[in-house]
Amino acid sequence: MILAPKTIESLLQHNKDWAKERVREDPDFFKRLSGLQTPKFLWIGCSDSRVPANQITGTDPGEIFVHRNVANLVVHTDINVLSVLEYAVTQLKVEHIIVCGHYGCGGVLAAMGRQSFGVLNKWLRNIKDVYRLHEPELMACPDDVARGRLLVELNVREQVLNLAKTSILQKAWKHEHRPVLHGWVYGLEDGLIKPLVDMQPGHDLHPLYRYEGL
Ligand code: CO
Repeated sequence: MILAPKTIESLLQHNKDWAKERVREDPDFFKRLSGLQTPKFLWIGCSDSRVPANQITGTDPGEIFVHRNVANLVVHTDINVLSVLEYAVTQLKVEHIIVCGHYGCGGVLAAMGRQSFGVLNKWLRNIKDVYRLHEPELMACPDDVARGRLLVELNVREQVLNLAKTSILQKAWKHEHRPVLHGWVYGLEDGLIKPLVDMQPGHDLHPLYRYEGL
């Protein structure tokens, strides 16, 4: 009973049923949530429809602050991700930030090739740079499938590092000793998350990236 064809009307109908069911289970559900959100986690994931943050982690509304974009990138000139990061770290005071990539990521695979995708080229160039940084390791893979999987993992690691490079994170690490950063990869084939890397507050970054006077 998956992937039944849905209409736009059916989405709205489902929403009505869902809201009714929530209130039946817990009459204060919406009253409580509309008053305050106190998520402990920030999720930075891929826009891919098959990787829904809440479902795969068993979290309810109010538990995860979510940002998603193509190939889960943390780009230093992207005002969108930086705004999410600033708000989650400084205002919501999240304890953990998760960058979750996924095997079979169309964005990552596209970045491995030379096909032009218009404006998306500029976004995916960030992943081409990750490829160039790790070229010997990637070239040592037996085939393109293994290479694609490795690039998905390297991309996640790089985005975790990109988080650590921000003054937003370094300030929170210095004054509040949080949040912990996590790099995960989700498997579309088995629904399982593989933890790749954890980065604790105060991680020993290359000195060039460490800001003074924060
Ligand atoms: Co993807």
